[in-house]
Amino acid sequence: MTVHSAPRATLASHLIAEIDAGRIGQGLATVILAIAATTQRIAAAVGKGGMIDILGSAGQENVQGEVQKKLDVISNQMMIDGLSATGHLRALASEEMDDLLPLPERSEASDEQYLALFDPLDGSTNIDINAPIGTIFSVLKAPMGALSNASFLQAGRQQVTAGYALYGPATQFVLSTGKGVQAFTLSRENGEYVLTAELTISADTGEYAINASNQRFWESPVQRYIAECQAGSTGPRERDFNMRWTGSMVGDVHRVLSRGGVFLYPRDTKQPPKAGRLRLMYEANPMAMLVEQAGGMATDALTPLLDLVPTGLHQRVPVVLGSRNEVERIVRYHAES
Ligand code: AHG
Ligand code: MN
Ligand code: MN
Repeated sequence: MTVHSAPRATLASHLIAEIDAGRIGQGLATVILAIAATTQRIAAAVGKGGMIDILGSAGQENVQGEVQKKLDVISNQMMIDGLSATGHLRALASEEMDDLLPLPERSEASDEQYLALFDPLDGSTNIDINAPIGTIFSVLKAPMGALSNASFLQAGRQQVTAGYALYGPATQFVLSTGKGVQAFTLSRENGEYVLTAELTISADTGEYAINASNQRFWESPVQRYIAECQAGSTGPRERDFNMRWTGSMVGDVHRVLSRGGVFLYPRDTKQPPKAGRLRLMYEANPMAMLVEQAGGMATDALTPLLDLVPTGLHQRVPVVLGSRNEVERIVRYHAES
């Protein structure tokens, strides 16, 4: 007997259904498709590894004083090239650019206009070891009138779309337009993103992620939380916990979205002027939208990340996100201390 199963939705057919349902406009769909197409080009470059000249340092620093890898620079340029001509983006901002990049006005431009922010290559230290890396993006409505860096400083709650591409054993594109979180997997056969999962985060988990080499710099609520996890079944939590650290936020958040867990990059005393390691506008906020849309929580340990009022394009922020009951516990430990 031949079983005919319905063809899987693709990213394009999913977006058409969202337009038909009145949940997104054609302009936003165009922007998302342009981002997705660019991530396919980045995936193709990443997949060539050492066969082409993409590995190693670019020999220059970004605005954060970090040495850029060649792939940081290449993927940033691919994002600029891929997003410049949608007709629906007024400006771009990126981890790898000091200030906004205004885009030329198109005469036929519609009234559906946006701003896009991105971390073109997340997990840079993983590039040269062929470990998971990704691209993170956030889309905001563009204000009218002249644009400046301040135009981007909208609370994460204002994001109309957020997501990431994960360049792992499979390339995946994970997206939220405000109604759940959808994961698409890149078909190497036909070059299409195919819908493979609707992601939700379990309320409970036995898995945490934190860079334990920073332990001596942690504040007391984080020390307490991790010590209790490590104490395992004979400690106050009365269960054993597992630990994972990918070195790429995309990899770690993807695991949390796939099987639950809690991810922490907390405030620490390592470099006191920096509130944490991760950047609010193009790392924390887009991931927070996905995590909340999947039923989890995302906070700086006091305030939901999506409610923070941004003060700078490249500002850093403490991040605690994932399974609701664990994040609530960590927030409580902070409130109690
Ligand atoms: P990026 O490569 O874009 O600078 O981001 C790296 C971030 C994030 O992906 C990851 O969670 C974290 O840095 C890793 O930090 P450690 O170096 O402390 O592991
Ligand atoms: Mn990053
Ligand atoms: Mn990066």
